[in-house]
Amino acid sequence: MWTSDGDLLARVDKDKLPRHVAIIMDGNGRWANGRGLLRSAGHVAGVKTLKNILKTAVNLHLEALTVYAFSTENWKRPHTEVDFLMQLFSEYLEREKLEMHQNNVRIKFLGRTEDFAPALQKLMRESVELMKHNTGVKFNVAADYGGQDEIIRAAQKLARRVERGELSPENISITFFEDELDTAGQPPVDLMIRTSGEMRVSNFLLWQAAYAEFWFTDTPWPEFTPEEFVDALVDFGKRNRRFGAVNS
Ligand code: FPP
Repeated sequence: MWTSDGDLLARVDKDKLPRHVAIIMDGNGRWANGRGLLRSAGHVAGVKTLKNILKTAVNLHLEALTVYAFSTENWKRPHTEVDFLMQLFSEYLEREKLEMHQNNVRIKFLGRTEDFAPALQKLMRESVELMKHNTGVKFNVAADYGGQDEIIRAAQKLARRVERGELSPENISITFFEDELDTAGQPPVDLMIRTSGEMRVSNFLLWQAAYAEFWFTDTPWPEFTPEEFVDALVDFGKRNRRFGAVNS
């Protein structure tokens, strides 16, 4: 089992933890280039970071962790880099799925998936199937994901229901809409973390992050540690969230 974060866990107040943390894992390429390495080496290092952060999320009993692994825009990268990321994604799932399962993780994929190679799609389905009854951290891997794309797909599903006469347009509510998103049944994002100095949302979880707190760091993703992850969680615990209201 993944239980070696002892001192780190002692720093957090369990009552003030976010339920759902989302992470934009940015800076793999710049980290590698800065060391005279290929961008691919940055992605390999990024996978190691991801494993450590998931482990910490498990030890903290976070409800949901969502990571941005591949955006709908990432197809525009050079073929060699796209192929490398796909290969890394497959190897990661193949290698880690059993350990995730043993740690009660429940994996889910957000995004389109149909443009991935059939073997990768099969591996994704098998991983979901393997962990579907787990009750621990909901680990969402956003792959071929874009927030605008997800919202359009949800709107299309609702439009089809209207077309079939199952729903009238006036009855489309926030709840109905959320039920059609890839994150249906999961809590909204409380905390969004972005590494590597950029301060933008890059089409990630646009709906779910409506009231998210943001935490930015200059640290590139390959150097992001469980310690810094806990820094972000502790900082979140100090935020005054009003959700549009005023303090009573
Ligand atoms: C951002 O760095 C990272 C990505 C586009 C991919 C994230 C992928 C990983 C952490 C590894 C693979 C993930 C899985 C689930 C196997 P960047 O390339 O945009 O870096 P840059 O901004 O410095 O160029």
